Amino acid sequence: MKQDMIVILDLGSEENARLAREIRALGVYSEIHPHDIGAEGIKALPNVKGVILNGGKNRIVDGVEIDAGDLSALNIPVLSVDHKGAAPWAEEMSDRLNAISDFIFDSCKCEKNWNVENFISDQVELLRAQIGDGKVVLALSGGVDSSVVAALLIKAIGDRLTCIHVNHGLLRKGEPEQVVEVFGKQLGAELIYVDATERFLGKLEGVDEPEAKRKIIGEEFIRLFEEEARKLQGYAFLGQGTIYPDIIESGTKTAKVVKSHHNVGGLPEDFDFELVEPLKMLFKDEVRAVGAALGLPDNMVYRQPFPGPGLGVRCTGAITRDRLEALRESDAILREEFDIAGLRGKVWQYFTVVPDFKSTGVKDNQRSYDWPCIIRAVNTVDAMTAEVAQIPWDVLQKITYRITHEVDGINRVLFDLTPKPTGTIEWE
Ligand code: XMP
Repeated sequence: MKQDMIVILDLGSEENARLAREIRALGVYSEIHPHDIGAEGIKALPNVKGVILNGGKNRIVDGVEIDAGDLSALNIPVLSVDHKGAAPWAEEMSDRLNAISDFIFDSCKCEKNWNVENFISDQVELLRAQIGDGKVVLALSGGVDSSVVAALLIKAIGDRLTCIHVNHGLLRKGEPEQVVEVFGKQLGAELIYVDATERFLGKLEGVDEPEAKRKIIGEEFIRLFEEEARKLQGYAFLGQGTIYPDIIESGTKTAKVVKSHHNVGGLPEDFDFELVEPLKMLFKDEVRAVGAALGLPDNMVYRQPFPGPGLGVRCTGAITRDRLEALRESDAILREEFDIAGLRGKVWQYFTVVPDFKSTGVKDNQRSYDWPCIIRAVNTVDAMTAEVAQIPWDVLQKITYRITHEVDGINRVLFDLTPKPTGTIEWE
């Protein structure tokens, strides 16, 4: 391992992730661990140069006072960070950053060796050590996380990785083609491409309840992946695009499930794989930086979030093929026009929705009776709350013109002005 490490012990602070990010921004790798990991637990971690006890306003978790125990056996510097409470926030932040910088560089003598290149070479080494001469199967959705896992694994083990790309028919325009082009052709991955559009749309026919739709898409996805993976022989490992926020959240918070999100968890128990999760210690922006360094195209690495059920939750109610097509085309126009207007990367998430009702209009001097298309564009930090992005009027007008003139079945364009809450970002 090339990188020095600072261990943050969670003593009830809500700011662990922020502290880890601050330290990494200073060029030093850091990980968050539970308060009771103990000296032995810390010794088992590679290259630890110092420990920070990160306390909250008081060191109480679930009503019980906590401490980190005796760490003197480690013989490395230990720093206690507590919130002062009284000091103004900005002052506290800058004091804190200075104290942390002094601690990691002066006391712990850390080197600034946390960077993408070192991460990649360390991971390649770790992946080879974990996998040996074994084989890995990976569900490659084309999203940032699974794409970066695939690129890392290709570098580490080449053709002993097999990627399975399930096209559920609810992907955006051009996405399955890009996965085949980038992974199948450019990176030369072993890629199994399954066009399951008919199967998914068949299962979804007539289903209009949002949670029922999500459940069908999620379960069918797992079943299909399982079917394909069972055809392969001798695969002991399963690649996963788990990232650090997933781990921090599941370890420290009891997040309420507002909507059932799906990934490849939920595989049957006799489906016995060892997990390979090379991104599990990275924040999203770090994942993107690794992807860019591995040569993945910008529109894959910097793409906006896209839900697992895909266009299925934007084609509201019971999905029909013609409305799904109108949705895919309108979404492609929206993304194209946002690119032209320089809004890509500036607006956090934007997409269209085509609801299951119609209104009257005129098209080509004739009465039309068609669907509206709703534009949703939001900014957010953590997707828990979101505000509506201000999009220049002329951009909206151009998009409206193009969608109403180029997309069959659409005669109106609406702009969703609702922040979250009270709306969610998606429509279902
Ligand atoms: P909502 O609609 O709950 O969305 O405000 C918050 C963020 O999560 C994304 N989202 C999902 N992502 N699987 C995912 O991987 C899902 O089922 C899912 N549902 C919503 C949504 O696009 C937004 O960025």
